[in-house]
Amino acid sequence: MNVAVIGTGYVGLTTAVSLALHGHQVVGIDVDREKVTRLQQKKSPIYEPGLEDALGQVIDQGRLRFDHTVNGAAEATVLFICVGTPEADDGSADLRFLHAAAEDVRNLYGQKPGKRAVVIKSTVPVGTGDRIAEQLKACTEVHLVSNPEFLREGSALSDSLHPSRIVVGADSPEAFEMMDQLYANVSGHWVKTTRANAELIKYASNAFLATRISFMNELARLSAVLGTDIDVISRGMGLDSRIGPEFLRAGLGYGGSCFPKDTAALLQVAKEKGVDLNILQQVREVNRTQPAWYVQLIRDKLQGLREKRIAILGLSFKPETDDIREARSLSVIGHFLQEGAFLSAFDPVAADAVARLYPQVRFETDVYETLRGADAAVLVTEWKACIQIDWSKAKALMARPMLFDGRNVWPADLVRQHGFVYTGVGRS
Ligand SMILES: NC(=O)c1ccc[n+]([C@@H]2O[C@H](COP(=O)([O-])OP(=O)(O)OC[C@H]3O[C@@H](n4cnc5c(N)ncnc54)[C@H](O)[C@@H]3O)[C@@H](O)[C@H]2O)c1
Repeated sequence: MNVAVIGTGYVGLTTAVSLALHGHQVVGIDVDREKVTRLQQKKSPIYEPGLEDALGQVIDQGRLRFDHTVNGAAEATVLFICVGTPEADDGSADLRFLHAAAEDVRNLYGQKPGKRAVVIKSTVPVGTGDRIAEQLKACTEVHLVSNPEFLREGSALSDSLHPSRIVVGADSPEAFEMMDQLYANVSGHWVKTTRANAELIKYASNAFLATRISFMNELARLSAVLGTDIDVISRGMGLDSRIGPEFLRAGLGYGGSCFPKDTAALLQVAKEKGVDLNILQQVREVNRTQPAWYVQLIRDKLQGLREKRIAILGLSFKPETDDIREARSLSVIGHFLQEGAFLSAFDPVAADAVARLYPQVRFETDVYETLRGADAAVLVTEWKACIQIDWSKAKALMARPMLFDGRNVWPADLVRQHGFVYTGVGRS
C-alpha cells in the first residue's frame, strides 16, 4: 500500500521503517527540514538499536523516502499522524501539533477522490479522534482511525515489527478493511473497537505500568527501613501468574516521554469529567519524590554532600536510547548540585543533551574516568557499560568505596567482596 507518516520522531520514524520493511511504499514527512535532510542521507536523528541500518536498507530498496511538506503524501491510501502530544502547563495533552497536521491533511485531501484512512498513532485523550474526524469532514472519503502505539524506546523497531497487540478504533467497515490490509503481514493480537476505547486503552496501559513501578518504589522505601530485600519480594510476587514479573523493579522511578505526560493527561481528562483518580495521583507523587528520597539516603550514608565528588553513571531515561525527556538523571543531578556536590557523569549516547542543561557537570566518555577520584558512584541508568564494570579497577580509582545502585542491578555480593559499601533501592 502507499503509506504516509506525518512526524518522523521516535514513533513516526520507527513506524515508517517498519511498514517499509513489511513491503509498503512509505513516505515520511516532517516539518523539521534538518531532520528530513539527515533522514534523506540515511542518518537516523535518534539512537535506536537497528534503526539506522534498517533505514538505509529500505531507502536503498526504494521503499522509503522523506519530504518536508504534506504534499509528499498525495498518493497515500493510509496516512499516519505521529506528531508529539506534549504536556501543556495544566497537565493536559497539548494537541496543537496534531490539529496543525490534521489541517494539512484537510487541505491536501479536501478535493481529492479516493478512499483513505487517516490514522492517529499519537497518544491522544478520549474524544480527540472524533474531533479530528469533524475537522476532516470535508474530506468525504477519509476514514478516521485510532491506532495507538505501544513500542518501547530502546527496542522500538523490534516492538513495531512484532507488536504485542494491534488496537484499532474506527467506525466504518472500510476503515477496518484498510487496516487489515495494512497489517496483513504483521502477527499480533487484534483489538477492533471504537476510537474512544482505543484512545483510553493507550492511557490506561501506561497508567497501569506507572502504577506498578510506583507501588514497588513505595514498597522499597518500607523495605529499606524493615531491612528486607525488595528484589526478593519482587521475585516472590512476580511468580504469581496473576501478577507477573514485568515492571516490578524498584529504582529511581519512571521517566521518558510517555508515562509522565500520559498520567498527567489522564488525570486532567478525569478532572474535567469530575472523576477523582486518586491512585494515579499518588503514583505520580511517589515518582516525583523518589529521586529526592534516594539522594537523601546517599547524603545520610556519606554524611553530607557538600563538596563530595559523585560519579553519575547513565543519563538517558532508560538504556538503549538517547532520549532524556523526564530522565531521572536530571532530577538526581539537580538535587546533588543543590546540595553542593561536585559531579562527573557518563552516558554512551545522552551526555551531550544533558551537558546543555548542566554545563557545571564534568562529562566523561569512559566509565572509569568518571569514577576517578569519586567519593561515591550512583547508577542512574542501567546501560551495559555501566553494569559490566571491572570492580578492582573501579575500587583503585575511587577515593571512597561507596556504591549507590539506583537500579538494583549491580552484583551486591560481588562488589561487597571487593570492599565496596553497597546501597541499592530497598535492598537489604
Ligand atoms: N516515544 C515513545 O516511546 C512513544 C511510544 C508510544 C506512543 N508515543 C506517542 O507518539 C507521539 C509521538 O511521540 P514521539 O516520541 O515520536 O515524538 P517526537 O517529538 O520524537 O516526534 C514528533 C515529530 O513530529 C514532527 N512534527 C510536529 N508537527 C508536525 C507537523 N505538523 N507536520 C509534520 N511533522 C510534525 C516533529 O518535528 C517531530 O519530528 C506522541 O503522542 C507520544 O505520546 C510515543
